[in-house]
Amino acid sequence: MSILICPYCQGSLVPSEERTYVCENKHSFDLAKQGYLNLLPVNQKKSKDPGDNQMMVTARREFLELGFYDPLIECIKSLVETKLSFSASNIIAFDAGCGEGYYSQKALNELPGLNTKIWGTDISKYAVKNAAGKYKNNFYFVSSIYNLPVAKASVDLILSVFSPVMEEEFKRILSAQGYAIVVSPAPNHLREIAELIYENFRPHTTNILEKMSASFRHLHRENSSFRIEMHSAEEVLSLVKMTPYYWSTAEERLENITKKTELSVSCDFNIDIFGQ
Ligand SMILES: C[S@@+](CC[C@H](N)C(=O)[O-])C[C@H]1O[C@@H](n2cnc3c(N)ncnc32)[C@H](O)[C@@H]1O
Ligand SMILES: [Zn+2]
Repeated sequence: MSILICPYCQGSLVPSEERTYVCENKHSFDLAKQGYLNLLPVNQKKSKDPGDNQMMVTARREFLELGFYDPLIECIKSLVETKLSFSASNIIAFDAGCGEGYYSQKALNELPGLNTKIWGTDISKYAVKNAAGKYKNNFYFVSSIYNLPVAKASVDLILSVFSPVMEEEFKRILSAQGYAIVVSPAPNHLREIAELIYENFRPHTTNILEKMSASFRHLHRENSSFRIEMHSAEEVLSLVKMTPYYWSTAEERLENITKKTELSVSCDFNIDIFGQ
């Protein structure tokens, strides 16, 4: 079953001949070699290549695959198990701003008693290409979370990890008993990295609760905090490269960090669960 709708006319979008999806008005979209669709109309692009570039996507994958954030994955899994209940065991999960796909694949793929079909979107075609190339059982497409080519009430669980949220679109696509899980940085996230770059550390703040509460009930907040210990310059670099600091900080300032061969770093996440 397809949850997709045409980004031009909102008619349902279904597979037709091999490697093509079409809507009832004959708008058609070809599957890319890796098996994903590009459903981002040119007029919704704010730049030629929106979202994370290939270097950022590669950096993120390299770091995540070292497993340093796996305690967060375990926390998401146990929340799904203990706090959510679904009326059927077959559920549709949707990773909004999926990046290269790691979180939804690891956190939502093998949940006891649930058979999850994972769909994911990101505005970055590089992110989607990497996700589709690796996680063949899931389905990925390029689109913006501000204008999702996804049918009304077609999704049971939205996962959003460190990506922008769009509560009205989340509300529209979520089924009547559906949930949204939003992971955002808590105050001390990567504190030591920020302290090495800036003179004053400013704890993270987000407006996730205010934003999402306009459309959803806030059901639960879990804080997941742990330390990660890096024991080589390569590990330190892999972490720094997947943060915005690396891409926005002058090289001289980065040397404070990238020359380190030992670093202990605080990870601090908020996991919020919202319901209808
Ligand atoms: C910090 S990354 C997080 C990626 C992934 N969830 C993870 O945690 O590994 C933020 C992602 O949001 C994507 N993004 C930014 N604006 C977006 C939009 N309007 N619609 C969809 N994705 C967007 C970026 O391309 C990037 O992949
Ligand atoms: Zn159409």
